Amino acid sequence: MNIRSCFAHDLFQGKTVFITGGGSGINLGIARNFAAVGADLGILGRSQDKLNAAAAELRALGARVSTHAADVRDYPALEKAMRDAREELGPIHTLICGAAGNFPLPAEQISPNGFKSVVDIDLLGSFHTCRAAFEQLQETRGNIIFISAGMAFMPYAFQAHVGAAKAGIDNMMRNLALEWGRFGIRCNSIAPGPIEGTEGVRRLVPEGSADALKQAIPLGRFGTPDDIGQLSVFLASPLASYITGTLVVADGGQNLPGSGAWTQLIMTEMAKAGKSSA
Ligand code: NAP
Ligand code: COA
Repeated sequence: MNIRSCFAHDLFQGKTVFITGGGSGINLGIARNFAAVGADLGILGRSQDKLNAAAAELRALGARVSTHAADVRDYPALEKAMRDAREELGPIHTLICGAAGNFPLPAEQISPNGFKSVVDIDLLGSFHTCRAAFEQLQETRGNIIFISAGMAFMPYAFQAHVGAAKAGIDNMMRNLALEWGRFGIRCNSIAPGPIEGTEGVRRLVPEGSADALKQAIPLGRFGTPDDIGQLSVFLASPLASYITGTLVVADGGQNLPGSGAWTQLIMTEMAKAGKSSA
């Protein structure tokens, strides 16, 4: 389905959407959907090459795009990126905190620095992003969408670091919704299920096991970047103007039977790779 069959092509005309991790995967899918409804886009990530390729794709859809090579763990770099985006595109109306890192590993094998890296990118990086964008969001009475994950509310084997980081994000989301509502700033999270063709699925779904996992999802399929992009446009739009402090799960119902099917597969895979101590 094309987003323009539901939303006006100029719904976000003149509005700036800033996306951390916007150079690839789900976040690039979100960017494409905002471009289709007229938004200007700031995209941030560490690799300038990746951002350039994404920007070319988004400009071909008619968007004005600024790129910002920065690490979300570096607060001064984030502040600069926000200032630059404002100069190029105008104040930020919608902020997507999508940058994240993940590698599946048994908890007893995650090094302290490996755990810290994931928490620093996902949780601290999301705080940096919001803090650096606050004045612009206050000015536009804008909104924030955090890209969370099922690991935030359900244990998945070998995801201790990611679960802790994403749960922290969702709790921070509710805090910011509580505190910043008086500035007109709405804050919500989206928890995607497995999304086809992304780095997350490449890292987390053992080769050859996609079909078995799909069978454990009530809707019988993995999601697409458009599934998450369309939901993001809705949540950022005036249609959602009374929605704040909410986690929206977009996973085809995957969480309903729990994480057992996935846990079983990844444990078997890890054992085969000699990584599981069990
Ligand atoms: P992805 O393409 O690897 O997206 C992550 C993005 O974050 C990349 O563009 C990466 O670009 C950027 N990034 C990573 N570390 C960064 C840092 N320190 N500073 C700035 N940017 C950084 O993976 P994805 O699978 O689409 O995941 C996107 C989001 O969806 C993540 O928040 C993930 O947790 C969430 N999610 C994914 C799935 C899934 O099925 N894929 C399911 C649930 C939730 P650089 O490497 O160039 O920095
Ligand atoms: N297995 C075990 N440990 C790992 C690891 C892996 N696959 N990848 C990194 N680490 C550990 C490192 O060993 C290091 O710890 P140490 O100092 O104790 O050895 C620590 O994590 C930091 O490693 P570094 O290479 O400096 O990572 P980084 O901080 O630059 O990158 C990651 C962050 C590790 C999350 C990296 O995977 C990444 O950049 N991911 C982005 C893309 C992504 O994950 N997309 C999917 C989103 S769902």
